[in-house]
Amino acid sequence: MTAAAPTKTILRALAGETLPTPPIWMMRQAGRYLPEYKATRSQAGDFLSLCYNPELAAEVTLQPIRRYGFDAAILFADILLVPQALGADLWFVTGEGPRLSTISDMAGVQALKPTDAIHDTLSPVYETVKILTRELPAETTLIGFAGAPWTVATYMIAGRGTPDQGPAHAMREQAPEAFDALIARITDATIEYLSMQINAGAEVVKIFDSWAGSLKGEAFTRYALEPARTITSALKARHPGIPVIAFPREAGDGYIGFGPATGADCVAIDNSVSPEWAAEHVQKDGCVQGNLASSHMVTGGQALVEQTQRVVRAFRNGPHIFNLGHGITPDADPENVALMIETVRNFRA
Ligand code: CP3
Repeated sequence: MTAAAPTKTILRALAGETLPTPPIWMMRQAGRYLPEYKATRSQAGDFLSLCYNPELAAEVTLQPIRRYGFDAAILFADILLVPQALGADLWFVTGEGPRLSTISDMAGVQALKPTDAIHDTLSPVYETVKILTRELPAETTLIGFAGAPWTVATYMIAGRGTPDQGPAHAMREQAPEAFDALIARITDATIEYLSMQINAGAEVVKIFDSWAGSLKGEAFTRYALEPARTITSALKARHPGIPVIAFPREAGDGYIGFGPATGADCVAIDNSVSPEWAAEHVQKDGCVQGNLASSHMVTGGQALVEQTQRVVRAFRNGPHIFNLGHGITPDADPENVALMIETVRNFRA
């Protein structure tokens, strides 16, 4: 199969092209800040029922595309579906977040289901992707995703979100064999899961390592960089040319060289580093995505306009996908999202 040059703007940026206007999408673009999302979620019953209902999950994926005309749609699902597919109990406590059964030793790792079994749980997600390939506008890129092994492991070990990932760091230090076995199991499952999303029609995949910033030095290399490299190379061997976005959130200096070292086509940048720094140290190696602070979607106004222009200006001499530095929050004003998009698309240097 010979790959034709891509025409969709997101794919062009991922192929290394510098575009006059950066393509744009937004982390958590389908979410509680949108009234139409809340309506569909209540129709589904709850968040997990929405994730596993292909028709409704496709509907909420499409809602921000219809409202704003983003250049990419991100599959509606959650990174914690993989632990659930591996056998963990998973539920969400309203106003608090996810809860899972916990793993602390080798017996817990060995009790997980075999990798092949994940599709029994995850097949509705592949169906969502198939629906989207039919229903998305021709110019919109479909992004699939999964959590990175370290971030997923932090939830599987603690059974919930944690401010400092303490339980996962403790297991890494006190039960390193069991910890490594858990990372290996999640890595294998993630490869199979993303591969099925690609088979179903995902055009790009993104690996979310939300807690990469708490890994330092050798631990960052071993548990953030290495798994991202393993997943990326396995996917590219099976699906030649599939673009990969890596998001080692709050990696700081760890962002430098992350793309070349992992083989990822694009590094997504959070807003704890400046766009000027990221342009100099990360974009020199290829496409970057980011990095407006999501708080501007709450506060709006002239600061939103100025900071949006600052991000576009900083990255304008290389391949760039405009995004927030992290997901949009439920208290955001939908009008501010429209203002951000208008500012990006009207920017002239
Ligand atoms: O970006 C998108 O619009 C696609 C869908 C998506 C969701 N979660 C939907 C969601 C994606 C890509 C995620 C990723 C995700 N999920 C991450 C990594 C990215 C990040 O934000 O750091 C993590 C750590 C999770 C785990 C998770 N899911 C948490 C901690 C929570 C609770 C916190 C919260 O915002 O409520 C969720 C729930 C969740 N995932 C919601 C959505 C829209 C809100 C649930 C609801 O509707 O009540």
